[in-house]
Amino acid sequence: MTSVDDPATAAEQCTPAFRRDPYPVYALLRETAPVCPIRPRHGIETYLITRYEDARAALSDPRLSKDMYGAMDSYRRIFGDSSVALDDHMLNSDPPKHTRLRKLVSSGFTPRRVEALRPHIQNVVNTLLDEAPTREPVDLLAVFAFPLPIIVICELLGVPEADRAKVQGWSTTVAQTGFSKESKLAQQRAEESLYAYFSEVIGDKRERPGEDLLSALIEARDESGTLTEHEMISTAFLLMFAGHKTTAYLIGNAVHQLLTHPDQLRAVREDPELIGPAVEELLRYDGSVETATFRYATEDLDIAGTRIPRGALVQIALNSANRDPLKFDAPDRFDVTRPGNAQSAHLGFGHGIHYCLGASLARLETRIALTALFERFPEIAPADPAREASWLEVPFPAFRGLTELPVV
Ligand code: HEM
Repeated sequence: MTSVDDPATAAEQCTPAFRRDPYPVYALLRETAPVCPIRPRHGIETYLITRYEDARAALSDPRLSKDMYGAMDSYRRIFGDSSVALDDHMLNSDPPKHTRLRKLVSSGFTPRRVEALRPHIQNVVNTLLDEAPTREPVDLLAVFAFPLPIIVICELLGVPEADRAKVQGWSTTVAQTGFSKESKLAQQRAEESLYAYFSEVIGDKRERPGEDLLSALIEARDESGTLTEHEMISTAFLLMFAGHKTTAYLIGNAVHQLLTHPDQLRAVREDPELIGPAVEELLRYDGSVETATFRYATEDLDIAGTRIPRGALVQIALNSANRDPLKFDAPDRFDVTRPGNAQSAHLGFGHGIHYCLGASLARLETRIALTALFERFPEIAPADPAREASWLEVPFPAFRGLTELPVV
């Protein structure tokens, strides 16, 4: 199915056409079925929300729960029992547990704390660009967009440099979206390795605490008893998982969009102050988190006239909400000078109590990365302008990102 005669089917089947450009399908869904039943996920009724106002309301609706453990039956049916260990974190909890877990790490992510990381991030960016291979074409995702956020996160957490490659490998395997038996087994093994690894590092840091986030979490656990060992390890995993591909894909999407919209790239080059608004516009126009994580209806509810029964799953299409013409003028136009695109307007970082904890960090990394890249390589261009970009193909989109970004 490649047409959009039946947009719900086109969306959930993730046809190549949909992955290449999901926006026409989302436009039809917003018009014809803004709260749309889609193929049940593992036997559980599932609904897709595509309009801005509905999406924003759903993201902060307390009747839509993020508590995997509270919704254990559906959770077990989706993921099986094995993957519980690394999932006991804030993104899977409702208040008051969510409030407690988020508070423990939020001081590490305030705009002031993040701004203090600027020289360090700049250093990592410069080193990666210095070390980029000179033989062309270069896959910018592999040599730049992917390594940058994982280096920053590992340093923030206090993961020793020598362990980064293996930690990154496990984390990537755990985060895979495959549902085959082999892929589940690989996920389970990687999860066990990560769990064992973090337990060991935490043991070391208890002996020799550092200035890092893991040491701060250990102190919170040991001194006030407000955190279980499971929660601590799950939180470390969440930060790594949430801070890696999200930022890497955004940098990739950003470079791709700027290279294919030369007038917008020129505007950013001529006025370096535009980099902040440009990153916001990129999050709106082609953000890297296409849909928010699943939510569960804890009671029967009505969204825009559609009844969602208790126990159903709800998926919120952030990238569709961000193209809603009822919210944004000419939403399909990529315009880095878009007026009034206040940082809070787009839903690229979510909304409500689960609003992205790492938003300031992601913004800073992306701004520094783009500025340095286009300054250092003013002649940068797609390796083969005639070739179509290759977008991720996954069972259902969570990430919007490229599989490669060859440039010269
Ligand atoms: C939550 C997007 C980078 C940590 C979220 C959510 C979104 C998001 C949409 C809400 C998910 C939901 O409600 O289902 C992004 C994007 C990023 C990015 C687009 C990069 C461009 C980061 C970074 C970190 C981070 C760098 C930290 C190192 C988190 C955490 C949560 C979260 C901990 C859960 C917050 C909670 O449950 O209270 N992110 N994120 N993110 N993000 Fe990010």
